[in-house]
Parts: sequence; structure tokens; C-alpha cells
Amino acid sequence: MTDKLNDTQRYLEQHHGGDGSKAAAKTVSTHERNHDTDFWAFWRTHVPNSENLHIADLGCGPALFLKQLAHQHPNYRLTGIEIAPYMLASIEEKPENLEIRVADLNAPGNNIFPHQSLDACLANMLIHELFQPVMLFRALRHWLKPGGILILTDMIRQPLDTFLQHKFPDTDFARAELEAPEMNDCFRDYFEHNRYSAEDISSLLSLCGFEILELQLLRQGRAARIAARNP
Ligand SMILES: C[S@@+](CC[C@H](N)C(=O)[O-])C[C@H]1O[C@@H](n2cnc3c(N)ncnc32)[C@H](O)[C@@H]1O
Repeated sequence: MTDKLNDTQRYLEQHHGGDGSKAAAKTVSTHERNHDTDFWAFWRTHVPNSENLHIADLGCGPALFLKQLAHQHPNYRLTGIEIAPYMLASIEEKPENLEIRVADLNAPGNNIFPHQSLDACLANMLIHELFQPVMLFRALRHWLKPGGILILTDMIRQPLDTFLQHKFPDTDFARAELEAPEMNDCFRDYFEHNRYSAEDISSLLSLCGFEILELQLLRQGRAARIAARNP
């Protein structure tokens, strides 16, 4: 295991709250909400309706999305990319057409997938966890077939006061007893989850050569879903 991979794993463990198994369990419990009927409608609108597709889930966590796809499409070839050991441990049994690879998507290189081999990719709640998404977007242009699709969902920037009110409901910030360590964690959490606006992500995709097909705002503007095409 390289030092860089270890650095990313250490960063992610802290980002995930310091308790890996709890973070994996939370990802399982939020799966339904993140892959609801609106998500599937968006996916089906943009991802070709044919068999024998090769699809990758980037930062696949416990791989529930890929297991669902494997069940619906036994002829798909499915690959999950993941780096956190506790997420990998939570994958357990895999269908035959699902493969999991360990890689750091901050610096993916071109070799994880052969040139123009992928029909579609999902990056669900991954981008805010990367140190920067440019290297991944560039690698995706290499991996996706011409016309291949990236579906990306992530948290986007929200005003600090809305975030604080959500974290500390009914708290009077002028008078309540507040502890510095709790505030430190809260502000770190804010900056790690509020890196980009929806426009930042879509213009970065365009800068890297993608064509934006659709952008939806979700959860009262706190998240965005984007479909982008490799021209
Ligand atoms: C918020 S979770 C979402 C998991 C899954 N996509 C889902 O929607 O249920 C983000 C996932 O991306 C993984 N991840 C974050 N940074 C990564 C990196 N640099 N390389 C590979 N995986 C990464 C995390 O370990 C985590 O499993």
C-alpha cells in the first residue's frame, strides 16, 4: 500500500467521523434516500437502455447500487472503486458480474480501466470527499466511450447560517454554552461538505471537456445531480 493511499484513507476516516463501521452503516441506511425513484428516473433518462453495458460506481461504499444493478441486469459488467477499508469490509457477498477494485480516485491515473471501455459511471456523494476532482474528470474522459455518461450527485455549498441551524437546532449562538472542540469539528465538517456550488461542478466538468446534459437541484438546493456526456 502506498503512502498516498494511506494518507487518503486517514483523511477519509476523519472525514467519516472517526468510526469506520458506523460510517459504513450510515451509508447503508441512506442508500434508499440517495437512490430513490427520482434518482432511478434520472439514471434511466441518461444511461442507454441496452444490455451488456460496462458500468462503474466511483466511491461505491458498500456497493448496494451495484448489487441492485447486478440483480436487474445480469449481463452488465459492473465495477466498484473504493478505498476505505471499512466500506470494503461491508460489501460482503458479491454477485458474479461485480468486481471491486481498491484505488485512490484523487490520483486515478488512466490505467484503472482500458481506454474507452466504460458506458456509464456513477459518482454518488464522492466529489466532496476528493482533495480535487480534476484528475478524476480527466481520467473519466479517457475511460468512458465516446457518448459515455457520467451521473454525479453531491452536496453543494449552502449558507453557513443554514448549516449551523441544521446542526444546532434551537441554539442561541449569543448565549448558549458552546465548547470549542465541538465548534472546531462543526466548522471542519462545514468546509469539507460545502466545497462547491452546482455551477462550480458543472463548469469544472465543462473545462475538462464534458458536455452537460442536465443539472437538477435537490434537497432544497443543498445537493445537485448532474448528467454529463463524454463527447
Ligand atoms: C459518502 S460515501 C457514498 C458511498 C456510495 N457512493 C453511496 O452513495 O452510498 C463516499 C464514498 O467514496 C469513497 N471515497 C472517498 N474518497 C475516495 C477516493 N479518493 N478514492 C476512492 N474512494 C473514495 C469513500 O470511502 C466512501 O465510501
